[in-house]
Amino acid sequence: MTKTTQKKSPAGLIVGVIALIAIAGFAGLSVTKYLGSAQVAGTTSSGKAAIGGPFNLIDHDGKPVDESVLAGKPALIYFGYTYCPDVCPESLVVMSDALDMVGPEVASKVRPVFISVDPKRDTVEVVKDYVQHFYPGMLGLTGTEDQVAAVASAYRVYYKKAEIDEEDPETYLVDHSSITYLMDGKGEYMAHFSHGTKAEAMAARLKDLLTQ
Ligand code: NI
Repeated sequence: MTKTTQKKSPAGLIVGVIALIAIAGFAGLSVTKYLGSAQVAGTTSSGKAAIGGPFNLIDHDGKPVDESVLAGKPALIYFGYTYCPDVCPESLVVMSDALDMVGPEVASKVRPVFISVDPKRDTVEVVKDYVQHFYPGMLGLTGTEDQVAAVASAYRVYYKKAEIDEEDPETYLVDHSSITYLMDGKGEYMAHFSHGTKAEAMAARLKDLLTQ
């Protein structure tokens, strides 16, 4: 660095400061833009988890629905697939047992929901039959491949078809995250239960969160 650049004239300093303000202003705008789009995906700037958001799916009666189908009361949401040999049925049994344990008053405040991550095989009819095995009034949702990919992404759910046997292409497993979400009646994240949570623990937490 030469002496001349170290000794900036006042005019040079002002230009420098203006440039800094411009850069800071631009960066600030970008952050606002980012938060703005993140809010659409379900997050808020108050530090809530970025889980959930708008979706379009098909309910177990074949009716197209969006996120408003969950409005008005908290939902316990599990993503899985009906052909799952173990993980999904276990989790849905835990959800159902927990709802039995909290008693009818608290249970009636929650909407149990199953969302398929295997829409190819989980047709409306298959999903309707499946949810009836777990809890009365459980809502089953499926959709197109794109709709399911979008809702899974909004809920940070991972799923991937495991290797398919070419001789038996309809028999495959789907790797997927196994998390039960509790969302409030406005679609905001309240809590989640990781795989392996016992029904007793889920029931206790639900009672805490839903009894005022
Ligand atoms: Ni499963």
